[in-house]
Amino acid sequence: MRIEKLVRLMRENEFDGALISPGTNLYHLTGLHIHESGERITLLVVNSDGEYQLLAPSLYENTIRDFPVTFWRDGENPYEKLAWILGELELSSGRILVENTMRSDWLINVIKLGNGNFEFYHLNLLMRMLRMRKDPAEIRLMERAAKVADRVFEEILNLEFIGMRERDLALKIELLIRELSNGLSFEPIVASGENGANPHHLPGSRRLRKGDFVIIDYGAKVEGYCSDITRTIALGRPNEKLLEIYEIVKDAQERAYRAVREGALARDVDGAARETIEKAGYGGYFTHRTGHGLGLDVHEEPFIGPDGEVTLREGMTFTIEPGVYVPGLGGVRIEDDVVVKEGRGKRLTKADRELVVL
Ligand code: CO
Ligand code: CO
Repeated sequence: MRIEKLVRLMRENEFDGALISPGTNLYHLTGLHIHESGERITLLVVNSDGEYQLLAPSLYENTIRDFPVTFWRDGENPYEKLAWILGELELSSGRILVENTMRSDWLINVIKLGNGNFEFYHLNLLMRMLRMRKDPAEIRLMERAAKVADRVFEEILNLEFIGMRERDLALKIELLIRELSNGLSFEPIVASGENGANPHHLPGSRRLRKGDFVIIDYGAKVEGYCSDITRTIALGRPNEKLLEIYEIVKDAQERAYRAVREGALARDVDGAARETIEKAGYGGYFTHRTGHGLGLDVHEEPFIGPDGEVTLREGMTFTIEPGVYVPGLGGVRIEDDVVVKEGRGKRLTKADRELVVL
């Protein structure tokens, strides 16, 4: 189990304990499927001797096996049980790592239990070191997730786009993803015509029509690992201006891809895309970073932005997704998933990047 790796890092960095609430870190460390515990506190407690105990609601009594766990029932005070676990693991003071996404109501109760004897730190200080570089088994899952994304793109090109509402297309994409994988990485984005100027547009009732550029952004999960792809297609005779923008974005995406190499900085990859778009005169319309790390979370480290200080290493996986968004006109984004392999970038998503005109 990967808990041992965390414990080694805890010792090296002089942390005494870790409190890990449900989320992708807990899954990464234990393989336990605890998706949602809502308001009921669920917490993995780990000490620097490598001992650990899970506190979980009794709802999980029949599903969590072969794992040291203390269950609590509705009506009981779970924090009394947590106090007992902390005692068993000899965690009464010291430097404690806390899951970054832990609910504040749980954390406030933990702070009270600690009586001022705990010093709290973000768990991601260490988890980032365990998660940024993927092992071969993780990369295989990401390849499968990327393949699903490619396959969905192929399938949707058979649809009759004209007259369809954005949300109809989003639903079709969602159904295909669910058919071919373990679920969505995130709610699909379909942004048509002038809506394409909003990078995170929510698919609405606008009907697709001739002359539109349509940004389509979605991803699939395979055993927890995400893909994330964007393609922009044209309906009918493409608008000249958007056609020009399309070629600039495609060029920027390719240049950023080629800038990926072991030892480069994340910001070098961002710079390659940004410089291309700036030179073409659209710098002001490229309003976000070039990409983000991808794995169990759809957005994780390393972030590929102008301030990206992470040095790229073998096994890191991230997106490259430059875009240009012109208010009143529309937008173009092209996004692929990339892994650093044998010193260079290798695309995981492979759907055609030439403009598709339907
Ligand atoms: Co995306
Ligand atoms: Co993305």
